Amino acid sequence: MAITILAPAERERLRKAGRAAAATLAYVGARLAPGMTTAAIDRLVRAHTAAQGGRPSQLGYHGFPAAVCVSPNDVVCHGVPSEHVRLAEGDIVNVDVTTELDGYHGDTSATFVIGAAAPHARALVELARGARDAGVAAAEPGARLGDIGAAIVAHVGAAGRVVEAYGGHGIGRAMHLDPHVSHVGRAGAGHRLREGMAFTIEPMVNAGSAAVRTDADGWTVRTADGALSAQFEHTVLIGPHGPEITTVLG
Ligand code: MF3
Ligand code: CO
Ligand code: CO
Repeated sequence: MAITILAPAERERLRKAGRAAAATLAYVGARLAPGMTTAAIDRLVRAHTAAQGGRPSQLGYHGFPAAVCVSPNDVVCHGVPSEHVRLAEGDIVNVDVTTELDGYHGDTSATFVIGAAAPHARALVELARGARDAGVAAAEPGARLGDIGAAIVAHVGAAGRVVEAYGGHGIGRAMHLDPHVSHVGRAGAGHRLREGMAFTIEPMVNAGSAAVRTDADGWTVRTADGALSAQFEHTVLIGPHGPEITTVLG
C-alpha cells in the first residue's frame, strides 16, 4: 500500500477542494427543513458545486446515481437521494458532500437534526461528532493509523457502537485512495503518519448494534437492527505539527 505524500502545491489544491466541499455542505445544511425531499438536497448540491467551478465527485462513481449521499435515521451511509423520501420533524440526516476542484477532492459530511429531535437522537449526533473530532486529534505526525480508530472507540465507549464495515480513505487526485482508515483501529498499529499525507476520518456510530446491511438498490446501507446511525467526516492533511482539517470554510 503506497500512501502519497502531497507536495506543497498539491496541498494547496487539496485545501481549495476541501473549502469548496465545506461550503456546499454548509449551504445545504442551512436549507434543510421538514417536508423537503432528499432529491431536493441533491439539486442544491449540484447547483452549489457548479457555481464554485467544481464537480460532485460521487456522481457516477461506480455507478452511484446522484451527486450526494443523503442518509436519514437508520441509514448508515450511501443513501441515494429520492423524490419519495421526505425529511420529517425529528429526523436526523447525514449529508455527505465530495467535491472535485482543479483535480483534487474534498470529502466532508455532517448529521443534521430536523427541528426538535428526541434527546437520544441528539445525543447520538453529538457522540458521532465527538468521535470524528477525537479521531482527527489523534492524527499527529509520528502517530500510527491505528491510533485514530483507537481514539474513536475510546470516545464512544459504551454510549454507542462504531461501524466496522466502512472506514475512511486516502484522498487527493482521486476521492478514494490508500490507506483504508479503520474507525476501530488498534493503538500503535498500522502505518506511521507523515507530513503531507491526506485522508478522511468519518466514523459512523450506531445507537444499537454495529451490524449493517445493504438495500436491494446496492447502495443504501442501514443498521441491521433498524436503530439510528450518525456520522461526521473531515478530510485531514497531516501537517508538520498536527492535523490540518481541509474541509473548513475559508
Ligand atoms: N463520500 C463518500 C465517502 O465518504 C463516498 C461515497 S461513494 C458513493 O467516502 F459512490 F456512494 F458516492
Ligand atoms: Co464522504
Ligand atoms: Co469519505
